[in-house]
Amino acid sequence: MILITGANGVVGRQVMSLMLEEGAAVTAVTRGPGAAAFPVGVRAVSGDLFRPGWIEAALEGVQALQISPRATGPGLGALLRLAVGQGVRRVVLLSATTVAYPAGEARFAAQFQHAEDLVRSSGLDWTVLRLADFAANALAWAPQIRSGDVVRGAYGRAATSPLHEIDIAAVAARALRGTVPPGSIHTLTGPQSLDQVEKVRLIGAALDRALSFQELPPEHVRQGMLAQGLPEEVPDRLLGSLADYAHQPGPTTDTVEKLLGRPARTFADWAHDNAPAFGG
Ligand SMILES: NC(=O)c1ccc[n+]([C@@H]2O[C@H](COP(=O)([O-])OP(=O)(O)OC[C@H]3O[C@@H](n4cnc5c(N)ncnc54)[C@H](OP(=O)(O)O)[C@@H]3O)[C@@H](O)[C@H]2O)c1
Repeated sequence: MILITGANGVVGRQVMSLMLEEGAAVTAVTRGPGAAAFPVGVRAVSGDLFRPGWIEAALEGVQALQISPRATGPGLGALLRLAVGQGVRRVVLLSATTVAYPAGEARFAAQFQHAEDLVRSSGLDWTVLRLADFAANALAWAPQIRSGDVVRGAYGRAATSPLHEIDIAAVAARALRGTVPPGSIHTLTGPQSLDQVEKVRLIGAALDRALSFQELPPEHVRQGMLAQGLPEEVPDRLLGSLADYAHQPGPTTDTVEKLLGRPARTFADWAHDNAPAFGG
């Protein structure tokens, strides 16, 4: 049995599908009624992982845990102690490249560093996946692309090597099965450094449309996000890292290819796979 936290997230959903295809038993943790949307065969348990005492019973018979720090929040230490008590063997942590390649406000990288420290000292066999930004973050542009040919945002020249969620899930699934050496840290990125101007162009290519990126002042973007009701943390997190990536691109590694024995999927692949979300 595998237990997935952040099961409704981009990575959680992919990992669940992969593990089910491989015949594994999967428990998905959710805070709410989203359980109804999980694939057939998934055992869903509901509750708040920030206060995880309730999950002890659900950990019985679980061999491996996938941890999304966003979903576990301040409950991670307690969750790991419960897992050890219930005989769980392995833990896979979804961390971030910013731990080793600083970008954005230090407090966000510090949260991932803290999660890594807890996992590494948990007594479980651990694997840390330091993830570059997800290609799926581009879904934030979907409303603009569905309604026009221009994407407006800040720091068009900010460059990262975005990861396809299928690649993240494929590596995570291996680590959950125990086929990645325990006690190892892997920095996963996509195969190619791309700025935002180029990402928008590639989404356009997948849709057979000429899309362009229009630069806006960062403060304008911040105010727009706050006006949409987003918490301040969202523009703080996004704009801080984009500002840094405009000066120094995020890292590019070949770790996905080395671990999976096939090339990492490109952003163009991702745009093609997700064209319907942009109206294609
Ligand atoms: N996006 C990136 O570029 C990036 C890069 C590096 C690392 N990461 C990390 O990778 C991990 C996986 O990301 P992901 O995008 O697959 O999904 P995620 O953010 O981990 O998962 C989202 C799900 O977690 C659940 N959740 C529980 N408590 C939550 C809370 N307080 N706030 C928000 N969601 C909560 C929600 O599901 P329910 O509503 O069903 O409870 C939500 O659908 C995250 O920890 C993220 O920080 C992301």
